Amino acid sequence: MDEIKAKELHDGILAKVREYYELVHAPQRESAFLPGESRINYAGRVFDAEEMCNLVDSGLEFWLTYGKYSREFEAGLAAYLGVRFALLVNSGSSANLLAFAVLTSPLLGERRIKRGDEVITVACAFPTTIAPMVQYGAVPVFADVEAGTANICTDMLETARSPRTKAVMIAHSLGNPFNIHAVRDFCGKHGLWLVEDNCDALGSKYGGKFTGTWGDLGTSSFYPPHHMTMGEGGAVYTNDPLLRKIALSIRDWGRDCWCTSGTDNTCGCRFTKKFGQLPPGYDHKYVYSHFGYNLKATDMQAAVGCAQLKKLPSFVEKRKANFRLLYDGLKDLPELRLFEKYPESDPAWFGFLITLTDRAKFTRNDLTKYLEDHRIQTRNLFAGNILKHPCFETLEEGKDYRVAGPLTNTDSIMNNAFWLGLYPGMENEKLEYMIQCIREFCKK
Ligand SMILES: Cc1ncc(COP(=O)(O)O)c(C=O)c1O
Repeated sequence: MDEIKAKELHDGILAKVREYYELVHAPQRESAFLPGESRINYAGRVFDAEEMCNLVDSGLEFWLTYGKYSREFEAGLAAYLGVRFALLVNSGSSANLLAFAVLTSPLLGERRIKRGDEVITVACAFPTTIAPMVQYGAVPVFADVEAGTANICTDMLETARSPRTKAVMIAHSLGNPFNIHAVRDFCGKHGLWLVEDNCDALGSKYGGKFTGTWGDLGTSSFYPPHHMTMGEGGAVYTNDPLLRKIALSIRDWGRDCWCTSGTDNTCGCRFTKKFGQLPPGYDHKYVYSHFGYNLKATDMQAAVGCAQLKKLPSFVEKRKANFRLLYDGLKDLPELRLFEKYPESDPAWFGFLITLTDRAKFTRNDLTKYLEDHRIQTRNLFAGNILKHPCFETLEEGKDYRVAGPLTNTDSIMNNAFWLGLYPGMENEKLEYMIQCIREFCKK
């Protein structure tokens, strides 16, 4: 191959990509905002020519599957979070599935989660935090959430526990860290696993340390509305080498071997060991220690992720600034209860949660319809109460799931709460317009 010519073509293509970005995508940053006419999305991807160049570079390399960008991304994410291991997967839901599946591994002995074992969680949730529990035949046990933080009521933890409890798996609601000290103490005291669904909280801190790194396993989503994106994508992270080993196996078909795509015998076990009932020297590449999946992402996704990861700290700061602006603009309205956080928390907010108080003479849907009519996108807090959804209709309370106590605040959030976007692409004039519309509506 003529390497000089190839490099010239490669660099020329990337120069064209930059030009294309400037012509097609960059102008959107400058388009004039027309109140009531321009759409205010609750979220969106924020990118520049770097993401597009990485994507095209990866396309030109045409490795396609797990490769140099995937390795760079995993190392970069682990370094950002300060954890030992991060594994790239194809979505946040896959990350949750993988994290949960890890805890069912026979390699964990008595602590593994088996059918009928219980996992404490909340019903005010995104569905795929809970789905893996049901899919693996574990029993989710639902505690209520606090009205102000939308996170687990930690005083319900002891009531929720039974001799079959093996784990706690919950999200940091809309980026707002749950009471990690209380949950960690509880898990430590009873020898329970803690899985932090960190899909909405990448960059949030609690007690000066990143969320997702306090528990045994943390998960991320890189779907476009999230703190950073690669289109579809996710990650599982941990400090525990055994959990990492299991996660790698289950992510990659359940295999025992850990050689990456396109490499052979980096494990040193290729034809030299005996596994299970297999004949001695059976090729390690095709030895399976788990019933796994293929949850890998492509290297093109990772390429976009590498460029986004560099922007993550600035995205996090912008989310915090946008939250402050909304908070200051709405905090005096008696009709609204605004999102609350713990003093130890420094959230990289995913959204701005608003719950109507008793003083409101209107419903949540009245207000969200008004905002939507003014071209402002709104969102409910995901499932509200997952138990009320059709997917629970065939499940039996007491057998397939348990409810630890009244879910009063969960139901209140389902009925009276919604959230506004504050993603890094949101300009101040849009935030100010949102404030103005809400104030006008409350005054009417
Ligand atoms: C808390 C939480 N967990 C998991 C997910 C699933 O992530 P993904 O859409 O990447 O599957 C989401 C998605 O928004 C989420 O909000």
